Amino acid sequence: MNKLRPVGVIGTGKYVPEKILTNKDLEAMVETSDEWIVSRTGIQERHIAAPEQATSDLAYEAAIKALKSAGMTAEDLDLIIVATVTPDMAFPSTACILQDKLGAKGAAAFDLSAACSGFVYGLATATSFIKTGIYNNALIIGADCLSRITDYTDRNTCVLFGDGAGAVVIGEVPEGRGFQSFDLGAEGAGGSLLNLAAGGSRLPASADTLENKQHYIYMNGREVFKFAVRVMGTATVDVLEKAGLSKDDIDLFVPHQANIRIIQSAMQRLDLPEEKVVINVNKYANTSAASIPLALVEAAEEGRMKEGDRILMVGFGGGLTWGASVLVW
Ligand code: ACO
Repeated sequence: MNKLRPVGVIGTGKYVPEKILTNKDLEAMVETSDEWIVSRTGIQERHIAAPEQATSDLAYEAAIKALKSAGMTAEDLDLIIVATVTPDMAFPSTACILQDKLGAKGAAAFDLSAACSGFVYGLATATSFIKTGIYNNALIIGADCLSRITDYTDRNTCVLFGDGAGAVVIGEVPEGRGFQSFDLGAEGAGGSLLNLAAGGSRLPASADTLENKQHYIYMNGREVFKFAVRVMGTATVDVLEKAGLSKDDIDLFVPHQANIRIIQSAMQRLDLPEEKVVINVNKYANTSAASIPLALVEAAEEGRMKEGDRILMVGFGGGLTWGASVLVW
């Protein structure tokens, strides 16, 4: 058998829609306050897609930047994975819509549903294809338009979410660099804590599902919070162990941006100073699958990592799912 190839990030791009929804704006929509939102979540504003923009449009903007930064054209791609819980439609997949828009002729394309962990799941999937020599170059995008499934009359959820897309091109990298380990997992028993109940085969869209607001995100915030704190800890330990590293080896921590308090609890557990942690939940809120790539790409654009730095990504989300990875930049 051929030796497994080292695989890493060779291009990055991100996109957020222009429109910004601030906490002040939300104060006029539901009974909430900037003070409550900032102190409980760390969120100050979020970006919201324009009416004519769908998830594939956000993904496209991020993708063309990632291809440019990799020095590639769409025709160089063998595989496109779009991690999302807000596809343009049930089918065709958002990845296929994007493949056509990019002109990535012949590339395999599929969507991946693992909510906020989707981007890391996508990285693990594409890395396996490239390591084994099946494909050479893959585009992995986390993209979501959560505003389309958010009930803006429900203060429990509407302050938490935003729209955006982050993309990476991955391919073979020099020995010693690239993805060192992955830790993916799920607890399906917790699925009902965070879901969108209707519009699938269980509860097709009907007057009743509309009336019952079952086309919006439902979340048991407290239980998801507990799950998040727990798995951020366990996944981090597991993924570091698989990479043969300890927490002191981490140069940059890129956590899922759902709530500043969840990020702070992970920082405490890992004993990480703020300069080693990427935090942008204040600007973008929780963008689900886009959250980790938006943070990773923004850190790269700000010059926060240098060659050889060890980056730890960790996310959790609906499913319930989690995903973590150690990447040498
Ligand atoms: N403004 C003012 N008050 C509010 C608001 C708001 N926007 N939202 C809720 N409250 C109220 C509640 O009604 C509740 O009032 P009550 O005690 O009278 O019932 C009170 O604030 C406290 O509610 P808690 O649930 O205890 O608030 P908590 O401190 O737990 O924060 C939060 C809630 C922010 C949702 C938190 O639980 C959280 O972040 N959970 C995790 C969410 C998450 O990470 N989701 C990720 C996955 S998303 C995905 O996969 C798409």
